[in-house]
Order: sequence, then C-alpha cells, then structure tokens
Amino acid sequence: MRSEHRTTPVRSRERSTVTSATAVAHPNIALIKYWGKRDEHLVLPWTDSLSMTLDIFPTTTRVRLAPEAEHDEVTLDGVPVAGEARRRVVAFLELVRERAGLPQRAVVETENTVPTGAGLASSASGFAALAVAAASTYGLDLDATALSRLARRGSGSASRSIFGGFALWHAGRHTGTATDTDLSSYAEPVPAGGLDPALVIAVVDAGPKAVPSREAMRRTVETSPLYRPWAASSKDDLVGMREALRRADLDAVGEVAERNALGMHATMLAARPAVRYLSAATLTVLDSVLRLRRDGTPAYATMDAGPNVKVLCRRADAERVAEAVRGTVPGCSVHIAGPGPGARLLNEGG
Ligand code: DP6
Repeated sequence: MRSEHRTTPVRSRERSTVTSATAVAHPNIALIKYWGKRDEHLVLPWTDSLSMTLDIFPTTTRVRLAPEAEHDEVTLDGVPVAGEARRRVVAFLELVRERAGLPQRAVVETENTVPTGAGLASSASGFAALAVAAASTYGLDLDATALSRLARRGSGSASRSIFGGFALWHAGRHTGTATDTDLSSYAEPVPAGGLDPALVIAVVDAGPKAVPSREAMRRTVETSPLYRPWAASSKDDLVGMREALRRADLDAVGEVAERNALGMHATMLAARPAVRYLSAATLTVLDSVLRLRRDGTPAYATMDAGPNVKVLCRRADAERVAEAVRGTVPGCSVHIAGPGPGARLLNEGG
C-alpha cells in the first residue's frame, strides 16, 4: 500500500469562514461483505466487513450554504435529484445540521464518474464525499474516525470510503439498545503490506438494479434461512482475510473474498421472494475467471448488488485478466482499478 492511500480527510476550519466546501471520494469494493443491518436508522450492520478503496470512479461533491432557501437543493451531474435518493441526502444533511446547531439549508452538487445504482458502490463514494464536504461546510471538526461514523449514516459502505487502501468496518457492540451516541461502529485502515492487487471490473450491465440493495438486505435478513449461517461464517472469513492480507497472500485473499461473496448471494437467492442480482452474463464472466485460474493466473471474483463482476488479481496480471474477461460478454466494458486514496477535502470557500 502506497503512503498516499492512508490519506486522512483534512479537518474543517473555523465555522465563520466557510460557506462551501468540495470533497472527493472513491468507491470501495468489499472483499468481506456488509449485508444486513441490525439497526436501520443508525445503519449498524450485523457483521464486520473489509474492502479495498479504488483509484477510479471518483465522486466530487460541493456543499454550499443557502441561508435564504427553504429547502435543500440536490443535483447529480447537473440534474435535480428527486424521490428516495433526495430523501436520503436531505436526512443526512438534517443529521449534520442537528450536530452543528445550524439550521441553514444547502445546495449539494455531485458529479459522479461511476454508473449510479448498478452495484458499483456509487453510494459509498457519494456519502463519503458528502460527509467530508458537509462536515466542513457546517463547521463540524471531525477526525477520520468520526467522519467514518458520520458517512455510515448515509450509506453503510460509505464508512469505508473515508479511508484509502484496505479498510475494515467494525460492526460495533451488539447491545440491543444502540443509540445515536454509540461510537463503536466505524471503519479503520488495514495494512496490506506487499500486496500489489488490482480489481478488474467487468460492467456487464450499467443500468440501475431491479431491487435497491437496502430493500434486498432487509428482505434477506427477515426471510432467508441462510442469512444467519452466512453471517456466522463471515466472522471466520474475516479472520482468514486479515491473516491473508498480513501475509500479502493474494491467492488466500481471493479465495476468502470469492467464497464470502458467493455465500452472500446464496443468502439472497434463499430469501422470500428471492433476490437474484447475478445474470447469465455474470456467470459467463465467472466461467472465464475459473478458466484463468485453471491456466495458472490467480484471479478471484466478487459481486455486489448487481450483475457486474470485480476480479481480484495481481496488478501485473491485470491487463491479461481484463483481456480474458472482455472477450466473454459482448458489449461488456472493463476497467482496471488499483488501491485508491481516502476521501479528502478539495477546497473550502468563504
Ligand atoms: C453488496 O452500503 O449500499 O455492496 O447501508 O443500505 O446504503 P446501505 O447499503 P450499501 O450496501 C452495500 C452492500 C454491498 C456489500 C458491501 O459493500 O459491503
């Protein structure tokens, strides 16, 4: 892991001098998945998860105070955001306003370079960038851990995008009576020494997902008989993953990541009604990953709330893996990502 991947977000400066701030954050891909909340409001997960932040697909978000406005204004790539997406951003701003004791509404302008809602972690980079920009604009002086807790409230996986490289999100204490002041659930960086990994991202379908991940997660926890066994085995997977990262053993990292992801999708397939994100194209890419492995190239797959496949391999093998994957599905676009930086403030305006 290069040193810039440990970048921690810049703290905000004095409240009176800042009326806008711009932040950038990158998506992360979980190698040990987060799937299932024990507290929907506080976004507290049942299990710990671990991810790699990418060096591609950044999200840039500017938050500007609008003292005269009655409502928040939210745009994505210049287009006003409505519905559930807007509701989530406004609820997040309410949280920030409450903490800051400042009632002003805001203008939130986001530029995304990743397809939104296609299981490519746009909510992770989105809420990580929003957390850093909004905290600064509203004058909250938060360190990286506190920003991770804050970003978590927008979207669970965003807690990990505050950090670069590899990050572990602690599920936190399971007290059964979690409150807003519970500080135990946040992400932190995990050293991955000599590992030189790449994630080859095969976008087989860039359209929005049929079932939003929030709803799919809830349904899985409530109805899938496989959920609890997966959550229990995910604890062992995390132990194996940390050990594999410590040894910089890419094959072990990949094996654990692949089985954890397939297990997560098994829990969804067993939900009632079933949630199936994996498509025929996904399985075709998975076949090509198996072929690569059989031919001696270490390559391991992971999938999130969508049909797209992320293939973990050595950076030195990434072009070859990308070539093998590209040929399998017509129209599939392939991107190569390495470990990327944590969320950071770009600038503040007076
Ligand atoms: C499959 O973080 O998008 O990508 O907390 O409801 O916003 P909410 O969910 P979100 O879920 C991500 C799920 C996943 C696995 C992962 O990133 O760990």
